[in-house]
Amino acid sequence: MKIVMLGAPGAGKGTQAKMIAAKYQVPHISSGDIFRANIKNGTELGKKAKEYMDQGLLVPDDLTVDLVIDRLSWEDCKNGYILDGFPRTIPQAKTLDAALEKIGERLDFALDVDVPDENIVTRMSGRRACVGCGATYHIVYNPSKKGDICEVCGDQLILRDDDKPETVQKRLSVYHEQTQPLIDYYADQGILKSVDGTRDMNDVFAAIAAILEA
Ligand code: AP5
Ligand code: MG
Repeated sequence: MKIVMLGAPGAGKGTQAKMIAAKYQVPHISSGDIFRANIKNGTELGKKAKEYMDQGLLVPDDLTVDLVIDRLSWEDCKNGYILDGFPRTIPQAKTLDAALEKIGERLDFALDVDVPDENIVTRMSGRRACVGCGATYHIVYNPSKKGDICEVCGDQLILRDDDKPETVQKRLSVYHEQTQPLIDYYADQGILKSVDGTRDMNDVFAAIAAILEA
């Protein structure tokens, strides 16, 4: 099961990817989480990536593509994976397709979690993310039972630096320009499935499970 998650920033890609990973026992690979882990650990990559992320811009391909594609060769990916946040541009998607073709593989699904821009800014300002494990909460829709502390690993929950309203607007325009074209790209390949991401997160997941099990 090789899945790519598509959708605007804050559409719920990470939320759904984690639910899919838990149910179907495949790893959840988030390029954003990989960058945030590097930022937290103070690596050179983290320092470079943060300059772009804090402005709502995409991190350049030379810092992104090999990093994610190498991750797919790990042993835990042998039965599939869920890619969240990658690919994000047509060139990234083409590079991924070429890398898979080389080893005789291809993607099974591109799942688009569809949420209009109007809903996004409210969602993002309420999001809290764990600095330790990347778990995601929402102060209204999905609060941690431990307040500001992560239920999974006990680390601190924070508002992401790029979740300020003005940065969210920039991320949305970058999404429409550079990432939304992937919807047609995967539709042309016949693997695009769309779900209404405005519903309750469990209902969104039920719709996804129905697609994966059809
Ligand atoms: P990334 O981390 O991928 O961020 P993003 O795409 O902007 O998406 P988010 O993580 O913000 O949203 P999400 O869709 O995962 O939503 P979530 O489930 O958290 O990337 C960050 C940055 O890294 C980029 O801007 C870029 O700079 C860089 N980067 C990453 N990958 C790159 C690449 N391939 N190339 C270049 N640069 C790259 O949900 C959002 C909130 O809503 C949460 O609080 C959640 O609890 C809540 N929620 C979720 N579902 C529902 C629901 N159904 N109802 C109500 N609330 C909900
Ligand atoms: Mg995410």
